[in-house]
Amino acid sequence: MSDADVVPVKPEIAAAALIPRARYDEMTARAAAAPDEFWAEECKRIDWMKAPTKIKNTNFTGDVSIKWFEDGTLNAAANCLDRHLAERGDQVAIIWEGDDPNDSKKVTYRELHEQVCRLANALSAQGVKKGDVVTVYLPMIVEAAVALLACARIGAIHSVVFGGFSPDSLANRIQDCNSVALITADEGRRGGRKVALKLNADEALKSCPTVKNVIVVKATGGDVAMQAGRDVWYEDVTAAASPAHTPAEMNAEDPLFILYTSGSTGKPKGVLHTTGGYMVWASFTHQYVFDYHPGEVYWCTADVGWVTGHTYIVYGPLANGATTLMFEGIPNYPDTSRFWQVVDKHQVNIFYTAPTAIRALMRDGEGPVHKTSRKSLRILGSVGEPINPEAWNWYYRVVGENRCPIVDTWWQTETGGILISPLPGAIAQKPGSATLPLPGVFPILVDGEGQRLHGATEGNLCIADSWPGQMRSLYGDHARFVQTYFSTFKGLYFTGDGARRDADGYFWITGRVDDVINVSGHRMGTAEVESALVLHPKVAEAAVVGFPHEIKGQGIYAYVTLVADAEPTEALRKELVAWVRKEIGPIAAPDVIQWAPGLPKTRSGKIMRRILRKIAANETDSLGDTSTLADPGVVTDLVDNRAG
Ligand code: WTA
Repeated sequence: MSDADVVPVKPEIAAAALIPRARYDEMTARAAAAPDEFWAEECKRIDWMKAPTKIKNTNFTGDVSIKWFEDGTLNAAANCLDRHLAERGDQVAIIWEGDDPNDSKKVTYRELHEQVCRLANALSAQGVKKGDVVTVYLPMIVEAAVALLACARIGAIHSVVFGGFSPDSLANRIQDCNSVALITADEGRRGGRKVALKLNADEALKSCPTVKNVIVVKATGGDVAMQAGRDVWYEDVTAAASPAHTPAEMNAEDPLFILYTSGSTGKPKGVLHTTGGYMVWASFTHQYVFDYHPGEVYWCTADVGWVTGHTYIVYGPLANGATTLMFEGIPNYPDTSRFWQVVDKHQVNIFYTAPTAIRALMRDGEGPVHKTSRKSLRILGSVGEPINPEAWNWYYRVVGENRCPIVDTWWQTETGGILISPLPGAIAQKPGSATLPLPGVFPILVDGEGQRLHGATEGNLCIADSWPGQMRSLYGDHARFVQTYFSTFKGLYFTGDGARRDADGYFWITGRVDDVINVSGHRMGTAEVESALVLHPKVAEAAVVGFPHEIKGQGIYAYVTLVADAEPTEALRKELVAWVRKEIGPIAAPDVIQWAPGLPKTRSGKIMRRILRKIAANETDSLGDTSTLADPGVVTDLVDNRAG
């Protein structure tokens, strides 16, 4: 596929689309010319308790201050629930599909509202107040959505930790934000296996004295220990609580949630999103990017532990009164036809997944897809990493039978929601390109010195001005926020991604330009994996880089230098992989470990990752200049003993 391959907008999609091309052009022009007026109008999609009169007040220089709708008040949960009750109280809000194909249930808006009110009352009764942080460590069950909305309802800040993270990772994320309560479950279920969430939580809480209350959902009925005075069952406290609750009136700039994400250095960062702008952005992007029409069934396969789950399983769809499907399982259990069986079972119209899932399913051929009808599908989406044209074409041709446009959505935890994506009725697609920015988004490319590049070119992807869904800070560390995102290129938000722009102005994301790697669509800081490795007593030093991986997009390649008396055995290699799994979680397990008697360093001691990336990618004939290394011989050894 070359850039010249264009998949035009389908006339039948454009005819019924919320945003056909003329409207996209008109909105884009208006949002650029008069952002205040544009967003003053657009923010009416949300129910405000007090409508904002101040719209945009943002500054990317100096101390960096980002405020939207700052004198407005609202409640995020009321926007997802209460305001729908009159019109669609009995419509299904959440279709839950269990890991076991015989397990599913439907929850209406009215039922969801009641559950959320009960949990909100239960949290308040435990003393959780507005502004307190509540950590959520749950599997993909309805109670996860209930937990988020109950926090939002009382004005508590939720911090969701992905259920695949280890006790240590959970503990770090609790300590960083001093959360006062934890909502977890006895166990999770994934691919026929159990995940010991409560056991992990107990381990983590040993070093988290701020957590006074633990609410435990009985998800599997597994046998778990309950600590008297601290742990209570979700089922008990919600049954005892009142089903009526008045949502807290929150300022637009009051925090809604923290979500930890990996950066190029140091420990994970607590990305902070506030209430008003985030809700406007979640609703705006969900409606327009997926061309969501009332009554449609929408399914995003992400986990609620990641930002995609926050914005496109919970807040966006529910704010728009959609029917959102929540899936507990994985794409290949019981077999690789599962996604498409679920599509047929629940008559899914819009399906949103990650390229890594598509690539994994592609390996099994077209048979498992053909066993199903998929006639209900109208729109397909992709998120989390660049989608290679081969996977794009398979998704388009085999899954969507050349009928469904694919929205390749580029965004980040930090951006709150989608920034660059085709709109199904407006923008012709090119396989592998996220295409054009949404109205009100101003992506630019700059060179290494921050000079703005024009026309068809390649560079560092920055955003020139604020949009309502932008993160506001890093929790408790505004200086790091300014340093990480606004200091590389003055006056610009730097995404950490590189991108190419073609002659049509389309963006092609080329991947991270920093030390963050993207494994199966999950962000991982190489520094985090290195820190975990060097904690092992036999490891003296470690350097971790990403390398191209057929299914995962990127795999984790670790160069490990052992302490003097340690033997580089196969058993030790396995032990180190297991060690990282235990320290961080299974998603961080290295795919390759190469024993490295030495690492390539500059004379000032800085590891030259560029060279390590080349060796890992098996591009050893283009290592570039190695003359500045303290000991160039190290490189020869690494090339000769390349692993994998
Ligand atoms: C990458 C996930 C190419 C990118 C929503 C970004 C993508 C990082 C795409 C954010 C896409 C996400 N095409 N790359 N459509 N979507 N990325 O914070 O490198 O988990 O910086 O947010 O994923 O990952 P995060």
